[in-house]
Amino acid sequence: MILVTGGAGFIGANFVLDWLKEPNAEGIINLDKLTYAGNLATLASVKNDPRHLFVQGDIGDRALVAKLLKEHQPRAIVNFAAESHVDRSIHGPADFINTNIVGTFNLLECAREYWNGLQAAQKTNFRFHHVSTDEVYGSLLPTAPAFNETHPYEPNSPYSASKAASDHLVRAWFHTYGFPVVTTNCSNNYGPYHFPEKLIPLVILNAINLKPLPIYGDGQQVRDWLYVGDHCSAIRTVLAKGRLGETYNIGGWNEKANIDVVKSICQILDELKPRADGQSYATQITFVNDRPGHDRRYAIDARKIERELGWRPAETFDTGIKKTVQWYLDNPIWVEGVVSGAYRDWLDKQYS
Ligand code: NAD
Ligand code: TYD
Repeated sequence: MILVTGGAGFIGANFVLDWLKEPNAEGIINLDKLTYAGNLATLASVKNDPRHLFVQGDIGDRALVAKLLKEHQPRAIVNFAAESHVDRSIHGPADFINTNIVGTFNLLECAREYWNGLQAAQKTNFRFHHVSTDEVYGSLLPTAPAFNETHPYEPNSPYSASKAASDHLVRAWFHTYGFPVVTTNCSNNYGPYHFPEKLIPLVILNAINLKPLPIYGDGQQVRDWLYVGDHCSAIRTVLAKGRLGETYNIGGWNEKANIDVVKSICQILDELKPRADGQSYATQITFVNDRPGHDRRYAIDARKIERELGWRPAETFDTGIKKTVQWYLDNPIWVEGVVSGAYRDWLDKQYS
């Protein structure tokens, strides 16, 4: 088996669903705290799959993690669990410190103890895969080269600082204890089952509900967009073939300014679900106050994973964004489930 943490969140759940599509896949123990971002509805199709064991719990709960490791003897851990939203980290950083730093520390310690007790062959094969972000590298000037794996860490938000800290812990556990880790730092993901606090799903849902499409500042901030299915295939590749102690940057080769991302979504919706009044969804675009400390540009140089492990993304932004918009139109029941009172409270807090 493998132990996946945060497997009820956006990327973790896509990873679980993707993994279990393979008929001969190893089983998954899915440990997730079910914060506001965790959603069992995303995992409904594998609810009765005997290869999927869901456990509600915290990565920082050492007794629980030790028990799961002892009982199920996984050959790898893939750590997705985190607080992941920059804007929430600005309003309240404490959860980010607790889960992303202290939680990762506790998970590492439990995993190291378990690994220490394994037989030689299992010990050699064991992997701890830490999923991280390009945001740890800070912000790029418009013409600067994209982030490669040796770029200095310069995190600017409470979120990215907490992820940077976790990356450093993972690195230190390799160098100090020989604990077998790999780390991946990826760009902005998008795709099915994305919680609509993040730009792309927020804009799709606000658009079809005829609400304003909020663009922070001048909308010229640049992100690299990675389709979530491509991220899952990259993680599988690194888990299978990545060199121990290494980090791999994962990106989609899709640098886009936010305003252009939003205009693309509007254009697709204009075709797929035209507004009753014949106007474009782009008329709903509204410029709002900028995010404090807003990073101007992220860009990923993903040549290392391509060169060493032969991975490349399958989707372009055009193909990925069309699939994503269509998915939100096709899945109103999932959407209804996440647009709860708590979600509306968040929108009031952030956008009022
Ligand atoms: P998400 O917020 O959608 O999901 C996080 C999941 O972790 C949720 O299911 C939540 O319940 C769970 N969780 C939170 N705290 C926990 C704890 N203490 N113990 C156990 N489970 C806990 O996040 P995501 O977008 O799926 O991101 C997954 C990982 O990928 C994170 O580590 C994030 O930093 C990283 N990442 C995300 C992106 C992106 O664009 N979404 C980009 C780069 C890196
Ligand atoms: P987001 O999806 O929150 O991801 P991240 O902050 O991790 O990159 O935001 C993506 C970009 O979109 C970022 O530059 C902030 C911007 N943004 C808006 O302009 N409006 C919004 O309502 C949101 C949520 C984000």
